[in-house]
Amino acid sequence: MKSSKSFHDKFHNYAQRETYPNLLIKGLPFIVTLLIITILSFFFLYSPNPLSIVPNQDLEIIQKHSQKDEFDHAKTFVPNQEHDTIEEHQHVSPSELHKEKKTCDIFKGHWIRGIRGSSYYTNSSCPTIPDSKNCFKHGRMDSDFLNWKWKPENCELPMFDPKFFLNIVRGKKMAFIGDSVARNHMDSLLCLLSQEETPIDIHKDSEDKFRTYYFPKHDFTLMILWSRFLIEGEERIVNGTGSGIFDLQMDKVDEDWAKVIPELDYAIISGGHWFFRLMFLHEGGKLLGCIYCSEKNVKNYDIDFPLGLAFKTSLKYINNCKDCRKRKLFTIIRTFAPAHFENGIWNTGGYCNRTGPMNEEEVDLNRFELKLRNVQMEEFKEVKNNNKGNTRFEILDVTNAMVMRPDGHPGEHWGNKWMKGYNDCTHWCLPGVIDVWNEFFLAVLQRENDKQR
Ligand SMILES: *[C@@H]1O[C@H](CO)[C@@H](O)[C@H](O)[C@H]1NC(C)=O
Ligand SMILES: *[C@@H]1O[C@H](CO)[C@@H](O)[C@H](O)[C@H]1NC(C)=O
Ligand SMILES: *[C@@H]1O[C@H](CO)[C@@H](O)[C@H](O)[C@H]1NC(C)=O
Repeated sequence: MKSSKSFHDKFHNYAQRETYPNLLIKGLPFIVTLLIITILSFFFLYSPNPLSIVPNQDLEIIQKHSQKDEFDHAKTFVPNQEHDTIEEHQHVSPSELHKEKKTCDIFKGHWIRGIRGSSYYTNSSCPTIPDSKNCFKHGRMDSDFLNWKWKPENCELPMFDPKFFLNIVRGKKMAFIGDSVARNHMDSLLCLLSQEETPIDIHKDSEDKFRTYYFPKHDFTLMILWSRFLIEGEERIVNGTGSGIFDLQMDKVDEDWAKVIPELDYAIISGGHWFFRLMFLHEGGKLLGCIYCSEKNVKNYDIDFPLGLAFKTSLKYINNCKDCRKRKLFTIIRTFAPAHFENGIWNTGGYCNRTGPMNEEEVDLNRFELKLRNVQMEEFKEVKNNNKGNTRFEILDVTNAMVMRPDGHPGEHWGNKWMKGYNDCTHWCLPGVIDVWNEFFLAVLQRENDKQR
């Protein structure tokens, strides 16, 4: 498997952004390896709880990471802890948020220590907790990662209040549109809301990619619409089997979600983890270029290019969607959530077993994830500036906060019997760090609600 390792390190190491001219002509051992990798990666990605293939970005950070014990780490992490005690934050109710500076950027801040055992739910109080995110059931022993709270620089982020959330969305329909990380986000929301009302599972397709829940007391419908790329993307079939090579139509949105959005009041759209693979990019029937290919006369792009285009096409489509105007569709763009494989990637022994946040000095601000976040941000600004006022757009900018949380992933505790030894450093434990996305989400909904009054 030596060739597999080097293949994968290179193939998915977007940090280096090289091309590999000999990729497809290394002969039989290589092809066999490619096949194995493809099969494995498809097992991952097509199962309801896939790991995405995200390269190792963390070597540098690790090297910088000293052997300080956790306590010291936490202390240095919060220099102004004494003035910034958590008690102040815990008592801010959602309705108080808008009394804070309206211009406050809630996504800019840092993690501070909160009250011990302050998670919103447990694996037994959330009836819909997915097995693969139930880290404590699968042997995760440390729980200190639950005790951190996000502190925006210039204001407070209110606690998540399920009553408040359900009142805002009463009578509405909401969909998460995206990959398994979008599903992870919805699963967190389901757990949070279930503390107030137990949802009813009303629709599930055979692969569990499209799922709908209903909260009868609040007449609220919540669904996931699975979409790998947001735009059209088909895998090339070679000799009857999937090749792991994709053709993307950069100017065509994925019909699976596009046909549903006219019935929606809210759409949360996200993506990114599927773009780290060999792909050919088409537009208007022409080949624009590729990702990780080695063909002559085909332009090789970085991942941020197709990702930006996919968001551009999708957001433009939503902005021009006439049928979306009657319900004044509110679209929330959730930015890229980083994976944290250390010393390898998912199939080369990469792991993520830290038990606390990284401090700000440890975070590499040149991480490629931040570039992905920036193209998503640009597309958000673009659509907001060209907004016809009939549909609405907002941003859920989780990247900065999540970059600092390598401790939030299941790691080896994701309960997959068939893939023992592989770590999930892409998705997030429930309860866990990802619950903050819904604190952000509620804050965004509330601001929008105040505006509409
Ligand atoms: C919850 O986690 C505990 C370990 O903390 C585990 O023993 C238990 O089986 C889990 N319960 C459920 C319902 O998953
Ligand atoms: C497809 O099958 C044919 C016939 O078995 C074989 O010659 C060819 O190399 C295969 N192509 C690939 C890409 O595996
Ligand atoms: C994390 O895992 C690595 C590799 O298995 C191991 O060497 C290291 O001691 C572990 N660290 C912690 C904090 O468990």
